[in-house]
Amino acid sequence: MNIDRTATGALQADVDLLAVPVFESDAPRMGSGARELDAQAAGAISEFIKTSGFKAEKGESLLVPRALVGESLTARQILLVGLGKSETVDLQRLREVAATVVRRAKNAKTVGTTLWKLEDSDIDARDAVRAAAEGAGLGAYRFDRYKTSKKDAEGGAGSAKIERFTLVECDVDGADSSLATASAVVDAVCWARDMVNEPASAKAPLVLAEEIAEKARQAGLVAEIWDKNRLEAERLGGVLGVGRGSINEPCLVKLEYIPDDGEAQKPLCLVGKGVVFDSGGLSLKPADGMETMKTDMSGGAAVAAAMAALPRIGAKVRVAGFIPLVENLPSGSATKPGDVLRFRNEKTAEVLNTDAEGRLIMADALALASELQPRAIVDLATLTGACMVALGNKIFGVMANDDGLAEAVLQAASRAGERAWRLPLPEDYKKQIESEVADIKNIGSRYGGALTAGLFLQEFVGEGIPWAHLDIAGPARSESEEFEIPKGGTGVGVRTLLALIESME
Ligand code: BES
Ligand code: ZN
Ligand code: ZN
Repeated sequence: MNIDRTATGALQADVDLLAVPVFESDAPRMGSGARELDAQAAGAISEFIKTSGFKAEKGESLLVPRALVGESLTARQILLVGLGKSETVDLQRLREVAATVVRRAKNAKTVGTTLWKLEDSDIDARDAVRAAAEGAGLGAYRFDRYKTSKKDAEGGAGSAKIERFTLVECDVDGADSSLATASAVVDAVCWARDMVNEPASAKAPLVLAEEIAEKARQAGLVAEIWDKNRLEAERLGGVLGVGRGSINEPCLVKLEYIPDDGEAQKPLCLVGKGVVFDSGGLSLKPADGMETMKTDMSGGAAVAAAMAALPRIGAKVRVAGFIPLVENLPSGSATKPGDVLRFRNEKTAEVLNTDAEGRLIMADALALASELQPRAIVDLATLTGACMVALGNKIFGVMANDDGLAEAVLQAASRAGERAWRLPLPEDYKKQIESEVADIKNIGSRYGGALTAGLFLQEFVGEGIPWAHLDIAGPARSESEEFEIPKGGTGVGVRTLLALIESME
């Protein structure tokens, strides 16, 4: 989808559907407030709004009969959308309302929206432009690669795929750069969603690695793939141990973004869990627990997609990414409960449950990232069902060894429209992962599973390196369509990572 703007008035908007966002307080006098309509049309529209019961609550929308508008407007359809209360409007509300617009725009290939009057709020106009464009782009996402019939592919009866979204009457200073950034963010999130939604058998570790490396190189990053031989030479025993059960060999993707004059910078390291399918291994999951396990590479997808957007957003920070990719399957060659794996940093772990595989591959990648002596490490992983029990499926957990970094991640998430909550890493819970035979074991007791997983990862972060772990098991996938979030893979984490990097000097 193309995102653009016009600086001219709504009258000339060359779009199939024109949306007009309305605050609750303006709904009663909406018709008369529309300066572009003649008195008769304004009166008729006011009357129509009154009888329809439209209150302009957030997410509410009302299609205005074309005949009421008259010929002064060029758009084929006019849609009023509720912005809710003006006192509480924020950037996320704008994303949600823009997403509502594109979702309601059935039959339209081109959609435009006028900008809302935000004079009374402290929202920066450029941020508002970006948020609206992000919401529209994210809300228009569909994964229809495997739909045969056109009707199904296009999201239901008679609806068309939106080709262009235009902000009408948008003469904000710096709007073009806001739109360019929004487009980069949208493309990144949508690519992450595509990777997540792809069936596991179509994204074997090496296949996905090639796709990531190619896209990354196209975007201007340096990309390298470590195959199984290289993993052996580099002693990544965790990645190899988890990958052993599948005929699809494991690998690791390394990405690097170096900004202009950035060679001397210490990098920020990003690490993403890339389990293309998690059956649980020999500690096999029940059938229903496996249904969504193609989602288990969402952390890796978020890292790849966010990094590919860095050149486009003109990021100033050097960033290195590590994505271990494996398929966790049971077989005659699979790692068995009781086996001991030796990781990149020479530590050993006893594998008591092969379904706690994420921490095993993340361990190697965190150790590898630590060798760069980075300024910080941020990792993303669909790590534990326990985190979903704690926070539900819309909020990800943040565990960190550094308060400043934790706060920066939480703030970035909030600006970006993603929901995060900090969880602790209690020192005394480490007892739970003590092993009789190895340095640590890969499961703790029944309760606090997100925290013991976090404590396990912490063992592989180098001394003195600020580190934050994002357990995205819940929000990586959505069971329902809600504003800018589609069903299926959500691309969670991409927006937070980009907002975090934008905030760093
Ligand atoms: N990939 C899962 C975590 C997960 C579960 C993500 C549900 C999304 C939805 C992870 O590898 C896993 O299976 N974790 C186990 C750990 C346990 C065996 C200690 C879990 O959470 O049950
Ligand atoms: Zn698992
Ligand atoms: Zn997993």
